[in-house]
Amino acid sequence: MTEAVLLVGGKGTRLRPLTINTPKPMVPAAGVPFLAHQLARARAAGVKHVVLATSYLAEVFEPYFGDGSAHGLRLTYVHEEEPLGTGGAIRQASIALTSGPTEPVLVFNGDILTGLDIGDLLLRHERAQADVTLHLTRVADPRAFGLVPTGPDGRVLAFTEKPRRPEEIVTDQINAGAYVFRREVIDTIPQGRPVSVERETFPGLLAARAVLHGVVDASYWLDLGRPAAFVQASADLVRGVVHSPAVPGDPGEFLVLPGARVADGARLLGGTVVGAGAYVAAGAVVEGSVVLDGARIEEGARVRASMVGTGARVGPRTLLDDVVIGDRSDIGADNELREGARVWCGTAIPDAAIRFSAV
Ligand code: GTP
Repeated sequence: MTEAVLLVGGKGTRLRPLTINTPKPMVPAAGVPFLAHQLARARAAGVKHVVLATSYLAEVFEPYFGDGSAHGLRLTYVHEEEPLGTGGAIRQASIALTSGPTEPVLVFNGDILTGLDIGDLLLRHERAQADVTLHLTRVADPRAFGLVPTGPDGRVLAFTEKPRRPEEIVTDQINAGAYVFRREVIDTIPQGRPVSVERETFPGLLAARAVLHGVVDASYWLDLGRPAAFVQASADLVRGVVHSPAVPGDPGEFLVLPGARVADGARLLGGTVVGAGAYVAAGAVVEGSVVLDGARIEEGARVRASMVGTGARVGPRTLLDDVVIGDRSDIGADNELREGARVWCGTAIPDAAIRFSAV
């Protein structure tokens, strides 16, 4: 039986204000909490048991996902009172695993959307007889990530977290946030104190001459840590650029959830989602955006690459481009917000008060 640990305990600070009341993996993407996509993909790869390593806002996961049976999985929740970091969380979660010492255990970051073939990753792990196998992806600018150069046989040569000096950038391969651990390797992570798997566990294993194997994969990959990426991921899921069995609809230009209302003459494009009870008025254009439950987009508003929070209102003719509107905020008519502006939950902006500014 293949088991997986999903790391879902981070504070998601870069995604605020979306993560003030909702942990990052529970923020909706393509109509369902992002975590539902990861669970569906794990299940499709044959995973039967997932341990959710929770910490920040831990109480919201179980009421939604329960014992996992509705998602075709067995789910166990392991909660850290104090966040233990990625490595500490894996160690703590392992108390709920039933795999034998040499069996493979999958570990996933809870904020990565990828088309990775999980079955193939497991196969490559077995073939390499590795202690840990890491999913690697290539990015144009690796500076914000953990660099993982490999030799011709796939053996990991080094780990460099977020390199600062140009000479440290020796590869465009980065840690893509999915691993296969031989179970007994997890047991070597210190228990009960914060540990970073990226900064401590992996470099430590490398120094101890453990077999660390990298699998460079060219399929879809996106780190949802920032709002623009999160909105992009949702749009890509809706349009079928990347497949998830959990999307509640067929691939297309938009997804309108049951109970939403879209007036005649409103235009939805680019993988936009309109949540339950939300309303889009005539003449509004919503492109590549996420409109959460109960939000209102008024007449003639134009919303692009943005997230409109639960119960928020976007007034007539207002323009949003690459913006996050917090839950229950009220943006009056004739405003213009762009370039990463974030409006905190419950904020009211009067009519025609803002033209192109970061709030
Ligand atoms: P930022 O605060 O915006 O950096 O986001 P984050 O808190 O999610 O941190 P990061 O993106 O580095 O975390 C990568 C993954 O590990 C995410 O899925 C987090 O939920 C998870 N994670 C990070 N720290 C912890 C922790 O202390 N405990 C648990 N259980 N998960 C964690």
